[in-house]
Amino acid sequence: MSILDKHKILETNGSLLFVFAFLVVTIGGIVEIAPLFWLENTIEEVEGVRPYSPLELEGRNVYIREGCYVCHSQMIRPMRDEVERYGHYSLAAESMYDHPFQWGSKRTGPDLARVGGRYSDEWHVDHLRDPQSVVPESVMPKYGFLEDTLIEAEHVRELMETNAFVGVPYTEEMLENAVADFNVQIDPWGDYDGLLERYPGAQVRNFDGQPGISEMDALIAYLQMLGTLVDFSTFNPDASR
Ligand code: HEC
Repeated sequence: MSILDKHKILETNGSLLFVFAFLVVTIGGIVEIAPLFWLENTIEEVEGVRPYSPLELEGRNVYIREGCYVCHSQMIRPMRDEVERYGHYSLAAESMYDHPFQWGSKRTGPDLARVGGRYSDEWHVDHLRDPQSVVPESVMPKYGFLEDTLIEAEHVRELMETNAFVGVPYTEEMLENAVADFNVQIDPWGDYDGLLERYPGAQVRNFDGQPGISEMDALIAYLQMLGTLVDFSTFNPDASR
């Protein structure tokens, strides 16, 4: 009996075909899905990547609420044109604390994965208020209202707890200091040692240059941090394997 004849038995017997098809799909499914149950194994740790500071996290929330991801991606692909324009290609670990991730799927504007430090805070304020004032051909909408909306610090801790609930390793100490850390990040004269210890590399200054902590402050703090956590002058992709 040739293999084709054996196959014919399967193909002419509906129930038998169903059983074998079910087996094949099950095995294939397990092979694809099971490794994800041990997700920790699939994300390599990279030095420098840390959970967002309270102010950055609030800024990220504004970014999501305003739909910035509709026009901006945050994922630099490992292709030459992208790497030359935006910098080192994105690492999975760089978005490991993103819930949900902001990779995006459309680039009406440029990728923002490494926009941190590329422009001054003042440029960001001008650009968010009126994008066409700095880039005349821009189609980006105006977001000036963000500087008039102050953020209530009382909900910062809850936002962090929600992130902790889905797996971001915020410690009890981070949660306890949530409001203080939130407030001190825009105060260069404050006592921000604790903030820097908990969130190494956090940038401390008054981002929008105005009193009070506005959504503009939080958003710019977030933008200025993007892509700055990993030091690519010392990063060795093989060391973490
Ligand atoms: C309708 C699409 C659109 C939306 C929505 C949008 N942008 Fe843009 N963005 C653009 C375009 C186009 C550019 C390029 C021209 C310019 O610089 O304005 C740009 C540029 C930028 C830049 C400068 C990037 C660079 O490398 O030069 C930043 C930063 C930025 N956007 C942030 C944001 C933020 C934050 C939001 C949400 C509050 C947002 N954008 C929403 C279209 C958009």
